[in-house]
Amino acid sequence: MLKEVTATRYITPLREGGSLPGLVEADDLGAYVMKFTGAGQGRKTLVAEVICGQLARRLGFRVPGLAALDLDPVIGLGEPDPEVQGLLKGSGGTNLGMRFLPRALGFDPLAYAVDPVQAGRIIWFDALINNVDRSWRNPNMLVWNGELWLIDHGASMIWHHNWRGAPAWAGKPYDATDHALAPFGPDLAAAAADLAPRITEDLLAEAAADVPDVWLTDEPGFDSPDAVRRAYVETLLERAPGIHERIELPKAAAAATPRATGWITYEGAGQ
Ligand SMILES: Nc1ncnc2c1ncn2[C@@H]1O[C@H](COP(=O)(O)OP(=O)(O)O)[C@@H](O)[C@H]1O
Ligand SMILES: [Mg+2]
Repeated sequence: MLKEVTATRYITPLREGGSLPGLVEADDLGAYVMKFTGAGQGRKTLVAEVICGQLARRLGFRVPGLAALDLDPVIGLGEPDPEVQGLLKGSGGTNLGMRFLPRALGFDPLAYAVDPVQAGRIIWFDALINNVDRSWRNPNMLVWNGELWLIDHGASMIWHHNWRGAPAWAGKPYDATDHALAPFGPDLAAAAADLAPRITEDLLAEAAADVPDVWLTDEPGFDSPDAVRRAYVETLLERAPGIHERIELPKAAAAATPRATGWITYEGAGQ
């Protein structure tokens, strides 16, 4: 289960993303990025955030801690923006909280060098979950304390919008031609050799167990939240073994490896 906290103060909207997440303070005194159940794509975005985020963490990637964040819309009454007001009013109850990384920088490929092993691991993981939202235009990675952190897995696992088509996704390719890390010479063979065997039924079930029931109830075609969890597990389990052979990289990926110059890397940057 995810940690459960309650929002006590709405601080400000984060306007960098498309879904207008908010920065809030919670009753554990932590600051969280709150992603709303009432936002455009609704609760499935949050399900994807939890399953993919918890899976990524178990595979050794850095992902900000997640929490089930209870919201009483009354805390946002003073917020002047009507769009934010609408989001808050439509999102009473359980939302997603992600630990806020203060002073994190957006990933910039010219300023931060990623080695081929790390690039390969991240692209392999994105291929598994079919993440379409880590392009060079919109990398959804942060640099914090000199390390790369993964955020925003809401646009993954597109098959959950049409479960009848989900089995076919085991064999579908992943288009990484626009991936933010494609130019870093990703070592996909090494990533697959290490990560694919670790995608077990138990590991996936642990990640799916962390999704709050309330986001999985009344899913058409399923009689319980656990039945929906099993569908996520099965699809990812089927997709893992062969996905590395179906990752489409740009033709000149290896040749175009950018190198950050020493003075602008964050190596040893501490805070
Ligand atoms: N945990 C975090 N710590 C610090 N900043 C964050 C965090 N999560 C998101 N942000 C900032 O908020 C922006 C929007 O968040 P994101 O999860 O990408 O939402 P969206 O679905 O709207 O794209 C990010 O691009 C980043 O600048
Ligand atoms: Mg984003």
